[in-house]
Amino acid sequence: MDAPQLKTSLPGPRAKALIARDGAVVSPSYTRSYPFVMARGVGAAVEDVDGNVFLDCAAGIAVNSTGHSHPDVVAAIVEQASKFLHMSGTDFYYEPQVRLAEAMNAIAPWQGQTRSFFSNSGTEAIEAAIKLARYHTKRYGIIGFLGGFHGRTLGSLSVTSSKAIQRRGFGPPLGGVYHAPFPNPYRSPAGQSEEECVAASVDFIEDQIFVHLVSPDEVAAVVVEPIQGEGGYVVPPVSFFERLREMTRRHGILLVVDEVQSGMGRTGKMFGIEHFGVEPDVVAVAKGVASGLPLGVTTARAEVMAWPSGSHANTFGGNPLSCAAALSTITLLKESLMANAAEVGDHLLQGLRGLGGKHALIGDVRGKGLMLGIELVRDRLTKQRASAERDRLVEECFKRGLLVLGAGRNTLRLSPPLVLTKEQADTAVRIIDESLTAMR
Ligand SMILES: Cc1ncc(COP(=O)(O)O)c(C=O)c1O
Repeated sequence: MDAPQLKTSLPGPRAKALIARDGAVVSPSYTRSYPFVMARGVGAAVEDVDGNVFLDCAAGIAVNSTGHSHPDVVAAIVEQASKFLHMSGTDFYYEPQVRLAEAMNAIAPWQGQTRSFFSNSGTEAIEAAIKLARYHTKRYGIIGFLGGFHGRTLGSLSVTSSKAIQRRGFGPPLGGVYHAPFPNPYRSPAGQSEEECVAASVDFIEDQIFVHLVSPDEVAAVVVEPIQGEGGYVVPPVSFFERLREMTRRHGILLVVDEVQSGMGRTGKMFGIEHFGVEPDVVAVAKGVASGLPLGVTTARAEVMAWPSGSHANTFGGNPLSCAAALSTITLLKESLMANAAEVGDHLLQGLRGLGGKHALIGDVRGKGLMLGIELVRDRLTKQRASAERDRLVEECFKRGLLVLGAGRNTLRLSPPLVLTKEQADTAVRIIDESLTAMR
């Protein structure tokens, strides 16, 4: 499928009809930025119900890692479906789940043995990490970061601090959760060095949280995204993780990395944390791990995941279809897609940076691999956030056949399937360029 190819005005008649039906019966809490109604997809191209074809740089929020309906993944799912659909991996045994735990053991971002707990989503993978950290350390405190997103069930929501609307009306949150600033090199005060930017975050934990709020010997875990996703695709300095790792080790605190968005090859390495040269204790993945089937995995050092039978489980986690899809996904990532994410990601980054000279709205272009963000500002000196302009840019891209999403208050994110080609990356740059020009 060549993308884009637009045949109707948007939304087309079939899309309009479905959106009207949705409006009557589906929860209004969902956040739809524009009226795209999916009919089918191939690789990085998607077709809507009216036959319009779009280039997909959203991938169902960074989920379709191997592209839409990759034939190998589909074949693995079909083969598994013909054998059995479910057998509750918490009560019985089946090979796909064991093989996936072995695969996670082989790719985990640290030396040494691991164990894996299976669930169905990112939020559950984080819930498991929070419970495991509390169980293992016999401590209650959790430290998260402002702007972080970890999910919307009540435990993970308490660590999430992305948008107030996500927490509003659902309080009180879990007790014992404290938030520190996340180091954002683009938004650190003028003249501040990288060390000072990192210190403003890690020193806040040591000199404020540990002094005024909670003793470090009552803190179970630091939960952190290697690259903040929903927060605006913010890449912290390398020394942030060096300091966090040193600090958590010194106090016997677990370092939990939330790789739900940054993991599974998206950044050009299997896990985002591998760009920062430190080894965490627990890693949580979901989204791209099974190419679109629901799966969450919480992988921990074997000595940490030593909770007894009955302490944590669920019915569907590690469903055999999801495990089959994940095994096929991991094979594809290792064979070629992780390398493609690095190469095409670099190409896309250069292309987007090239637009900076032409469009004053572009304040910053950043990211790793195919996890890229463009932060829009009204003024490059004051860095005033161009939030309405970002929303408009997302819509203008849609009108021209490119699916993208916002992230944070004023950032456009590109999180395409990892099969994206350089030609498709050039198409994305061209459409963003044309959209920005149309907004003048
Ligand atoms: C970093 C991160 N953690 C956790 C989650 C929650 O995942 P889910 O929506 O599958 O519950 C998300 C979702 O966007 C995420 O980006």
